[in-house]
Amino acid sequence: MSHVDGLAGELIIGGYELKELAGRVGLEEAAHLLWRGALPGPEELGALRRELVALRAVPEETLHVVRAAAAAPPIDALRMACATLSLDLADPDNISPSADLTAAKMLTARFPTLVAAHARIGEGREPIPPRPDLSRAANFLYMVHGKEPDPIAARALDTYWVTVIDHGMNASTFTSRVIASTRSDMVSAVTGAIGALKGPLHGGAPGPVLDMLTVIGSSDRAEGWVRNELAAGRRIMGFGHRVYKVRDPRADVLSAVVDEMGAAHLEDRKLFDLARAVEETILKVLEEVKPGRNLRTNVEFYTALVLQSLGLKPRSFVATFACGRIAGWCAHVIEQHAEDHLIRPQSEYVGPRDLHFAGPDSG
Ligand code: ACO
Repeated sequence: MSHVDGLAGELIIGGYELKELAGRVGLEEAAHLLWRGALPGPEELGALRRELVALRAVPEETLHVVRAAAAAPPIDALRMACATLSLDLADPDNISPSADLTAAKMLTARFPTLVAAHARIGEGREPIPPRPDLSRAANFLYMVHGKEPDPIAARALDTYWVTVIDHGMNASTFTSRVIASTRSDMVSAVTGAIGALKGPLHGGAPGPVLDMLTVIGSSDRAEGWVRNELAAGRRIMGFGHRVYKVRDPRADVLSAVVDEMGAAHLEDRKLFDLARAVEETILKVLEEVKPGRNLRTNVEFYTALVLQSLGLKPRSFVATFACGRIAGWCAHVIEQHAEDHLIRPQSEYVGPRDLHFAGPDSG
């Protein structure tokens, strides 16, 4: 699906370098690329968009779960609600390519509706039904805020979703593939993937990035703050990556999105200026305190800025990430089912051997 070259700082998605796609195709086109192996022609794109629009509304049973999870973190609510979506499939255990594609469209269409409904319910308001005349990103922002978004904001969100649609064998994608490899179904695989995405070492970093910027407050305080954190053995969120040893190319794409948004909104620009100054300081201090570890800015640093300026709450950042990654997870599940090969790593046992159980009465 995608190739990550951590030394060259290169990300190829479905054969295209990220910069060929981001800002130039929408999430539906990128999903088609991963699900069907090629970008769609105009008719295929129109048909896919119509299908996804028709699937946006969520069943009442699922909405009950979102309401019951009103106080839970949005990513937990999404995981719980996602699990119920198999109730809405005629044959949820069918893992044929066509059944998988049906499930993929349903999940990709509904994730934004679930996240937006939970955001509204969490604020004591009623969810807003999806609007068929708006793009996927514009409709999501409409369902969250109750008004049509600025086109720059909708485009920024779509670019973000395409940027994070797939990223090699990351933890959540691997999780989805392990589950699918047992011939378990698409909804189960994706539900597990959400659990893996949630952690702060994976998709849960952007919320803490924003907390960090808030605590730092002004660029002259950045250096002291970072040194303290590192001295206390804590990690700086939004920096470092298991694969990238150079700058994450997704950070570049989102940095350009941030520039576009900052040009349009003065309020955002103040935060962006602070973030850029803090980023520079953090990189300098990391290089000094953790030499040779090649800790660079990762996607989550700029994700935090983009999602914040869309008016989204930090607690919903990781669930918003899932709204883009869902299409990638589904693509992997389709591929894994087609391969039909069980993923079952062997572990190396390092515990004791040759112990003898003397019996329950041996004292
Ligand atoms: N801040 C400070 N030190 C760090 C950071 C960081 N963000 N990341 C790694 N290090 C240090 C470690 O403390 C370790 O130092 P040591 O050699 O003195 O013990 C060294 O760098 C290597 O760390 P590892 O844990 O082995 O590196 P790994 O490749 O496993 O870590 C990870 C990758 C988990 C992303 C890490 O960089 C991190 O925790 N970053 C912060 C969280 C974050 O931004 N997550 C989002 C990742 S992007 C995504 O998943 C979509």
